[in-house]
Amino acid sequence: MAQLWGGRFTKNTDAEVFAFNESLSFDQRLYKQDIEGSIAHVHMLGTQGIISSEEAALIKKGLTGILEDIENGTLSFGPEYEDIHSFVEANLIARIGDAGKKLHTGRSRNDQVALDMKLYVREETDEIRGLIKKLAEELLIIIKGNTDTYMPGFTHLQKAQPVTLAHYVSAYMEMFLRDYDRLADLRKRMNVSPLGAGALAGTTYPLDREMVARELGFDYATFNSMDSVSDRDYCIELLSACSIIMMHLSRFSEEMILWNSNEYRFVEMDDAFSTGSSIMPQKKNPDIAELVRGKTGRVYGDLMGLLTTMKGLPLAYNKDMQEDKEGVFDAIDTVKDCIHLFTGMISTVTFRKDVMEKSAMMGFTNATDAADYLVKKGMPFRDAHGVIGTLVLRCIEKNCAIEDLSLDELKEICPVFDNDIYDAVSLKTCVNKRLTKGAPSEASMKDAIAHYESLLSSMQ
Ligand code: ARG
Repeated sequence: MAQLWGGRFTKNTDAEVFAFNESLSFDQRLYKQDIEGSIAHVHMLGTQGIISSEEAALIKKGLTGILEDIENGTLSFGPEYEDIHSFVEANLIARIGDAGKKLHTGRSRNDQVALDMKLYVREETDEIRGLIKKLAEELLIIIKGNTDTYMPGFTHLQKAQPVTLAHYVSAYMEMFLRDYDRLADLRKRMNVSPLGAGALAGTTYPLDREMVARELGFDYATFNSMDSVSDRDYCIELLSACSIIMMHLSRFSEEMILWNSNEYRFVEMDDAFSTGSSIMPQKKNPDIAELVRGKTGRVYGDLMGLLTTMKGLPLAYNKDMQEDKEGVFDAIDTVKDCIHLFTGMISTVTFRKDVMEKSAMMGFTNATDAADYLVKKGMPFRDAHGVIGTLVLRCIEKNCAIEDLSLDELKEICPVFDNDIYDAVSLKTCVNKRLTKGAPSEASMKDAIAHYESLLSSMQ
């Protein structure tokens, strides 16, 4: 056990206490941010004359060496250290001697861990944004290629009105664009530097907190030292954004699972993105979509875990807050994997356009348009609704679509029908007459596509 705080203790820590208390086993993934933060801190200490510039240079060199050695595998995280901060500091002192002991001047592990976590979460927020952008690019390809792929749109999981595959997928595009925006938004709020808050009440050293903030890419340094060390809102905001992303992925996965079922047969999953059954040779299972749907619960759990950890904490730092890490790491890993794999799956899936179109035709999705046809011929909508209801009943008896009935059969139900009914209820007409903004017609989709193209090109 190599601890930073042995001075006032007369006994060694109990081994089980050490094991319960340690965080190196999971916070080791913050090594880069810890070293980056320390380099900025030490640079400022040197500039402010709090330590000599020679000492600052020596410490910086030592820290850079530690970073290199961790990355090339020559330095591993020994189990004797309590956390990543102790690990780096102990290694620094071992390398450069007494100068290393000055690194922690004007700093506490409380503001240090707040900084490390913020740097990490900020970086990962950008990574997740990049993955969402890639997913959105794949969706745009599907959208552009399917503005005339007709399929049923559903309400209550019952066929409702015809849409196109482009329109359907563009609904998910909207969700992921909001996710991207949400991440950009929370990133703005998190981008303030807590370093220099000390344990909770700042420090008597003349630190230049703004200099450190600038060097680390923050907009400015925080305005309250107690809040700085006890704020985990940015983690909760990211977890909440991740939960919403997972909810969107899970809904889309659910569609894919349904569409891949023997009953729908709207899609055929690529072999590389499906799995088989050990007993049933005919099976081709949509495991990726099911796992993404399943892992959504786990990310929600990470969010609820941290919200609950934080809810009773008095100011300022409490050790409870060490519990922020595993959930945040888990949610980030999970959401990244899920977006990435979902992107692979959706970009390789085959959409069975013929099946989709047939399904739209057989599901009376054009019934509203048939009623509108009668309205245009002068019939009140409520009467037209009744006529088409009778018509649908006749079709159900005959197991056919509205457009399969002959004009005589149609006239028998209502003499207003004429030859132009067939064109009026074709899927193409039903879709392309829906010209309102956001509707499925090719013309409306053209505007939506132009909007997506411009948004995607402005995403960094
Ligand atoms: N491992 C700790 C954490 O993750 C670092 C901060 C420790 N601070 C303290 N006062 N014990 O929160």
